This record gives sequence, structure tokens and C-alpha cells, in this order.
Amino acid sequence: MASITVEQVMQALRGVDDPDLRKDIVTLNMARDVRVEGQRVSLRLVLTTPACPLKDRFRADIEAALRPLGVTSVEVEFDAEVRKAPGAAPQGGQPGAAPTAPRMPDVKAVIAVASGKGGVGKSTVATNLAVSLARTGARVGLLDADIYGPSMPVMLGLRGARPTIDEKLGKIIPLERHGLKVMSMGFMLEEADAVVWRGPMLGKALQQFIEDVLWGELDYVVVDMPPGTGDVQLSLAQLLPVAGAVVVTTPQDVAFADVRRAIRMFEMTRTRVLGLVENMSHFVCPSCGADHQIFGASRIDAHAEAHGLEVLGRLPLDAVTAVAADAGEPIVIAEPDSPAAAEYARLAGQVAQKLAILTHGQADPTSKFAAFFQGKPG
Ligand SMILES: Nc1ncnc2c1ncn2[C@@H]1O[C@H](COP(=O)(O)OP(=O)(O)OP(=O)(O)O)[C@@H](O)[C@H]1O
Ligand SMILES: [Mg+2]
Repeated sequence: MASITVEQVMQALRGVDDPDLRKDIVTLNMARDVRVEGQRVSLRLVLTTPACPLKDRFRADIEAALRPLGVTSVEVEFDAEVRKAPGAAPQGGQPGAAPTAPRMPDVKAVIAVASGKGGVGKSTVATNLAVSLARTGARVGLLDADIYGPSMPVMLGLRGARPTIDEKLGKIIPLERHGLKVMSMGFMLEEADAVVWRGPMLGKALQQFIEDVLWGELDYVVVDMPPGTGDVQLSLAQLLPVAGAVVVTTPQDVAFADVRRAIRMFEMTRTRVLGLVENMSHFVCPSCGADHQIFGASRIDAHAEAHGLEVLGRLPLDAVTAVAADAGEPIVIAEPDSPAAAEYARLAGQVAQKLAILTHGQADPTSKFAAFFQGKPG
């Protein structure tokens, strides 16, 4: 039997598509370092994000594509290169247009976590999403943009911690915790001080967090937005180079008016909303494990559909989540095997996948995602 060549393997791999990008893994330059030893093949598959939820599917498709060549074993090593996502447009600009001054130039994608009203769990979701992304191997930062009510010192167990200054560069070195680089107003001030800060200073503080913090090279920066959809939030969304936003809601938002306001805010700043997250969506009984829809049947699906959005995750109402947050250990770290942690891992995968589609769609103006990115979904 003739020996299998690398060329034959590459040719066969052209039959394996990335289901999101709708192109084959050779054209996309994802399949690399192909080695053939007899009937055994090894290769490196460079994904668009380490949080890619499709690894098993890729492996199965590759095995199926190579089997007809007589390949008996395939070793796929997964790797990832996150490409730079287009940020939100500067005022009046087109989405994806180069901002006047690049903000956070070494950050691939900024993800805003927002909501229409307070207390729905933005900070909880932002923290657990950030940690879940980091657990996939991505380099992740967490920026607490809630200047008046910063949550990160408590939620990450960093009460009283202070960042250091790089004297030579005159820049702030962010704190590191749970695999994240973190910046929060709570590290700059005593808790009681925050309230005396006013509008213009607030804008400055945030600008400093964006421009004067040594974030370094990161794949994702998750931004925990302050509650509400007023002027402050609007200017924040303009100041930050946001690639995509996640809007958090709870089943009690019956009228959905708050969520609509949040979506509208991002429309005004030309920021793509990646989808909705329903927090405290159901109650899992800790003793019997039964699922209780204590708020009645969720209406989020109908609302999401009405806005052409997807529900990216549904987090249970769960006492451990709250206790873990207060103790400075996000639930995904405190209880990594819990259903909530699994749902956060799924959410991280979805968010990363959507960003990758947007980014790659923009790179190729002929793809159907280019239209999606330009704000003409479908
Ligand atoms: N899924 C959940 N199950 C139980 N408790 C939760 C859950 N999500 C959040 N909480 C708790 O609800 C409270 C509010 O959450 P969080 O601070 O994350 O909300 P927020 O939207 O960031 O609030 P704010 O608008 O004030 O910034 C916290 O005590 C948190 O621990
Ligand atoms: Mg908060």
C-alpha cells in the first residue's frame, strides 16, 4: 500500500469546514504542522478562540475525513489565535472603522456586560464569564467600570488591595487574581470616598483605566458596566472600544422595558449586542436537585426573538453563587463542578464564538457574516 503523504492529508482536510465561518480548515489556515508517520497523522488545529465549543466536533470531522486515506489514528492538538475584533464606532463613524486613537491596542476584544436596571447580576456574570474565559487558556482582563459602586474588590477577594505604579512608564499595573488582570475604582479609593466623585472626574477615571493601565496583550477584557442606561453609561459605551455587549436580565423583568433600553443604548453607540443572559432564571433545589420555575415560565425567549437576539445563557438562582461572590471566590472557582459553572463555561464559549464570527466575517467582505457585522443580520 502506497504511503500517505502530507499533501493527501491536506487535500482531505479541505473537506472539513468550520461550521461558524463556513469555510474549510485549510483555506482558513487553521490546520497546521501536519505530520504523517505510516498510517498515523498528527496536526495542530489553530482555533479562533481557546473557548471554542466545537473541539469534539472538529476532531470527529477530521477523523472521518482522513479515514478513507487509510489513516488509523489522528492526534489533534488544539491551539488558538484570537484575532482583533472591530471595536464600537467612534461617534458618527461606521462600525469597525478605525477609532481616532486606538484604545487598548493590545487587547483583541472588549466585552461589555450591561443591563437596563440594577441588581440583576451584571457583576456576578461579568466575573464568572471572565474567569470561565480564562480557564479555557485565554488571556483575560476584567475592568470594573462601576465607578460609584465597584464590586470587584469584594467579588474577587481583593479588599484593601492597591495596584502598583510602573514609575518609568508612569502607568498603573493591574492587580492579578484568579487568572485575571483586574482594575477597579475600588482599588484606588477607600469605600466611603467613591460617592464624592462627580461626572467629569468619573469620565477621567475611566479613561485612565483604559489608557493608563498596563493591560498588556490580552484576548478579552470583560467590562462590568454600572447599572442603568443614562448619560454616564452612554458615554462609557462610547469611550470603550467595545466589540460586543452581553445584556443581563432576570425573569422578573416582565415588561422587558429595561432590557429594551439597554439594547437601545448599544444601538446608539453602534455596539453589537451579542445576546442576552437570563440570571436567576430558575431555582435548583439543593436537596432534591429538582428544577423550579419560581418566577413562572420565562418570557425571555419571546423577547429575544422579537429583537433578533439569542439567549446565550441561563444561570440558576443559587445561594452558593451569592455566598461565593461575597467570599471573594466566583462560583466557577468555588464550585467548578456545579451546574452554574457548566452554564458559565457554555456562555463563555458562545460569547467567544460570536466574537470570532464577527471578527472573521469582517476580514472577508464577501462572507455572509460581513453583512451581519455591518448591522444587517440575516
Ligand atoms: N444567580 C444568582 N443566584 C443568587 N444570587 C445571585 C445570583 N446572581 C447574583 N446574585 C446576587 O445578587 C446580588 C446582586 O448581584 P450583582 O452585584 O452581580 O448585580 P449587579 O447587576 O452588578 O448590581 P448593580 O446594578 O448594583 O451593579 C449580589 O448579592 C449577588 O451575589
Ligand atoms: Mg454591579
